[in-house]
Amino acid sequence: MIKFQNVTKIYLENTIALEDLSFKINEKEFVSIVGKSGAGKTTLLKLLLAQEKPTRGRVFFDNQDVHKIRPEKLPELRRRIGSIFQDYKLLASKTCYENIAYVMEVLGKSNQEIEKDVPKILEIVGLTERAQNFPAELSAGERQRVAIARALIHRPDVILADEPTGNLDPYNTSEIIHLLLKINTLGTIVVLATHNKEIVNSLGKRVITLGQGKIIRDQEKGRFIL
Ligand SMILES: Nc1ncnc2c1ncn2[C@@H]1O[C@H](COP(=O)(O)OP(=O)(O)OP(=O)(O)O)[C@@H](O)[C@H]1O
Ligand SMILES: [Mg+2]
Repeated sequence: MIKFQNVTKIYLENTIALEDLSFKINEKEFVSIVGKSGAGKTTLLKLLLAQEKPTRGRVFFDNQDVHKIRPEKLPELRRRIGSIFQDYKLLASKTCYENIAYVMEVLGKSNQEIEKDVPKILEIVGLTERAQNFPAELSAGERQRVAIARALIHRPDVILADEPTGNLDPYNTSEIIHLLLKINTLGTIVVLATHNKEIVNSLGKRVITLGQGKIIRDQEKGRFIL
């Protein structure tokens, strides 16, 4: 489903972020990407979303080279690959419900579809009770769940999560990870870039370890070792 083929990314001023990286991620996998700060985790995710271009090599999603996709087709790629980051950009003047409904409106969904889907998605992320609250009235963990809910609207094939629990306490961290596991069980690939050792070790899932832009370890049921 996802394939990196000899990918090198060099930013300006000769920063080698990724060097000759090759790996595949298959359907239904849950993969953690670990590595020290600056190891290239975020760069890897951005290359998959075609937010950055590789200097050499190719990145495939569903057998398509994502860097050959025409600009007008990129929104479609980014609907199939949902992303959530540490700084969830929610609209402050809209409630949880409206934050989710708004994305559907932009997509041109009918009111009927919106009224049917938003409660379902709120249910999945456990925010039914918070539907009418504004972001400022939510905990950090709840805000992150709204961000995940927004990504789920598109029924993505993949969810990329870049340090999604970076601002959360252990309780909310564990809630978010359980939510990602649940989404994975429902059939979505999850790629989780994280510094959280306990989480990675408790998952018992595949771990790709980056070191200075290279894969230094790629293990099924891996552990967090830097
Ligand atoms: N836009 C950019 N321009 C120049 N250099 C960049 C840019 N983005 C990242 N880099 C550099 O590329 C390398 C990899 O950065 P990246 O953000 O991918 O690391 P990371 O593993 O996500 O780190 P962290 O754990 O701190 O988030 C670093 O040396 C970083 O300074
Ligand atoms: Mg990063």
